[in-house]
Amino acid sequence: MSEIQRLAVLTSGGDAPGMNAAIRAVVRAAAACQVETVGVRDGFAGLLAGRFQPLDDRSVGGILHRGGTILGSTRCPDFHTFEARERALIALGEQDVGGLVVIGGDGSQRGALALHQMGLPVVGIASTIDNDLAETEATIGFDTALNTAMSAIDRLKDTATSHHRAFLVEVMGRNSGYLALLAALATGAEFAVLPEREMPLEAVADDIQASYARGKAHYIAVVAEGAKPSANTLAAYLRQHPCAFDIRLTVLGHVQRGGSPSANDRLLASRLGAAAVSALLAEREGVVVGWRAGAVVEIGMDAAVAPCNKVTPELLELADMLAR
Ligand code: F6P
Repeated sequence: MSEIQRLAVLTSGGDAPGMNAAIRAVVRAAAACQVETVGVRDGFAGLLAGRFQPLDDRSVGGILHRGGTILGSTRCPDFHTFEARERALIALGEQDVGGLVVIGGDGSQRGALALHQMGLPVVGIASTIDNDLAETEATIGFDTALNTAMSAIDRLKDTATSHHRAFLVEVMGRNSGYLALLAALATGAEFAVLPEREMPLEAVADDIQASYARGKAHYIAVVAEGAKPSANTLAAYLRQHPCAFDIRLTVLGHVQRGGSPSANDRLLASRLGAAAVSALLAEREGVVVGWRAGAVVEIGMDAAVAPCNKVTPELLELADMLAR
């Protein structure tokens, strides 16, 4: 077992529903092993500025169901430098912190990996609405964001049907189209425009016409924010080349990042929070805890941040087949 008496936890990058549930699980799992937890305010930026906040069983009460992160989060370009990371290690040392838990996505786990390579015991918790970490099927926040996108698209479909309109709905996901594709599948959208399959503008226009010809009363294209063409380009093209439906564009944006976490995200966060503490205290450092085949998995940090593509040909085929 490790000598860690005190660990630190931070949330970093884009917030995700369920991060609070993960903080709570880390603090209480550590307390159950007589290990103290200190929270770092505002991610890696707060670490550099030495902004710490003691956390105990009571201070993480009442947060399980809350969206966002009580610790705050930032994107911290400064952290890319070696000097900044050295400062972070000094700040943690001054707090007698023997290990760090990083709750976040791709960029955050890269920061975690860099600290681990400098000798700090670090464990990551997979948390991003983009679900773009490799070797984990789920990431905290993805399920809630998917449900938020689904509810919004269901509502858009109601009005699209009433007015016989085509809606382009832009969904988040950075460079990944996975959130957009699953939102398209879950709502029976007519088309998914994704970074993983570039297509000419005319292809969407043709598909809208073909859907109208098949008797559809509306058309919904879910467009991932990283798609080429982008939702804006597509909307401009479709307005210049009028088709059977009137065109509307809706950008869901940050609404997908907020809100109370789903039951799945609360459960995932509780499991991963506890698993991160177990890994850290058992000296299995340099891993990101994730979820695969119904169980927690520990993924090497370098493997977790490697490029991944969850948009499989099978999912694409299913979405296209069912959009008839
Ligand atoms: O990584 C989560 C995410 O919401 C992405 O889907 C999106 O591209 C990005 O963050 C938005 O970042 P910001 O909140 O900094 O605008």
